[in-house]
Amino acid sequence: MNEAAPRRTNEVGLDPPLSRSAAAFLREQRVVPGGSMRHASWFAPHPPYAARGQGCWILDIDGRRILDCANNFFSLVHGHAFPPIVAALTEAIGRGTAFGLPTEGEIALAEALAARNPALEQTRFCNSGTEALLAAVKGARGITGRHRIAKFEGCYHGSYDHMEVSLDSTPANWDDAEGNPASVPYAKGTPPAVLADTVVLPYADADRCAAILRRHGPGLAAIVLDPHASKAGMVAMPAEVIAAVREACARDGILLIVDEVVNFRLGFAGVSPLFGLAPDFVTLGKIIGGGLPVGAVSGAAGRMAVFDHAAGKPRVALGGTFSANPLTMAAGLASLAHYDAAAVARLNALGDMLRARADAGFAAAGAPARLDGMGSLFRLHLGTRPVTDYRSARPTVAEAAALPRIHAAMLAAGVLLTPNCSGALSTPMTEEEVALIADRLVEACMATEGWR
Ligand SMILES: Cc1ncc(COP(=O)(O)O)c(C=O)c1O
Repeated sequence: MNEAAPRRTNEVGLDPPLSRSAAAFLREQRVVPGGSMRHASWFAPHPPYAARGQGCWILDIDGRRILDCANNFFSLVHGHAFPPIVAALTEAIGRGTAFGLPTEGEIALAEALAARNPALEQTRFCNSGTEALLAAVKGARGITGRHRIAKFEGCYHGSYDHMEVSLDSTPANWDDAEGNPASVPYAKGTPPAVLADTVVLPYADADRCAAILRRHGPGLAAIVLDPHASKAGMVAMPAEVIAAVREACARDGILLIVDEVVNFRLGFAGVSPLFGLAPDFVTLGKIIGGGLPVGAVSGAAGRMAVFDHAAGKPRVALGGTFSANPLTMAAGLASLAHYDAAAVARLNALGDMLRARADAGFAAAGAPARLDGMGSLFRLHLGTRPVTDYRSARPTVAEAAALPRIHAAMLAAGVLLTPNCSGALSTPMTEEEVALIADRLVEACMATEGWR
């Protein structure tokens, strides 16, 4: 190339020669909108493409070794290619992948859930957390005969219409005329009826929450909550808010749906007991599938009877072609069997160590940043303001500009976080990996300008 020639870049703004991942991204852009199957896992200029995973490490197609803290959005509690899961899948796949008949595997996984928490007395499996929420909401409607639901502002519960309401409200639209959280559409084309039927609650304001529930309670089928919601900052829902929810449910006959799709991993019996919650339905997903697609709705037999078809057409029909598929059942059973109380406690302690080490590093560097989270889940917050809910967790303009650069610096240092700089630990990790994550995170923040 002539030295004086202008610098040539390709469609993704990268200089040739391309890495294999850059070439794959160019190829994918032609056949997939945005060049990515998932909005959530895309980041600029493009993610590295995975070739294989082993334990807590990923090897990308360019041969780079990356410490995986994304764990497929917290669904891999044992990391990659966990030998007991590989063995269970190898055994199961030889017997056939799907039948128009039940299998014993679905009984075993449902029994494993019930053994961990008697409140998960009965279960129906589906293929994603989104479907689990959809099923639980339909179940609550079927039982109560009401159709409106309440959810908390900014909280993610999958891509089902009602669950997306007020997922990304902004200061320009987040209050209604009375100063309560407004029902804000997320997807273009959201039907107005969806907004009218979804009441939005504040995550950290018990008085306002109680007042909204006093007004709307008698018309609500369900309140959906996640007591440690990632999009609300990965901070605990205050006990006073939980008390206001409990009171409204008892007073107005509203059913409580606790979304444990992510947070089931926080306790052997899941997250509800840790927050004193007694849900009517629990939605599950992620780690209970051992890395395969999964969702589930669980609850006491009296509640789950809404899905019972034994006497003819059920009040709410629930099922799908691949529901309770034998491979997911086998992988899920192996995943849970190796995530016993001791394993949960060990992983949670590693999470405490991670937060303490990172926070000590930030303090020593005089950096106004910290790691929030609980157990094996963590999320980076820039700034010194207390984070209590979706609004306070929302990054400032400067922080929003810095986070992708910190994410990129982490990746350059060989650590994969989710794009909003959160992560989950996995059982193959030891104190060595945890120290590495904490130290790299402090270094990445300090090397990034513009947010301090
Ligand atoms: C709290 C919560 N609920 C539900 C879901 C939806 O699960 P899925 O992606 O399996 O549909 C997610 C996904 O990340 C989640 O974080």
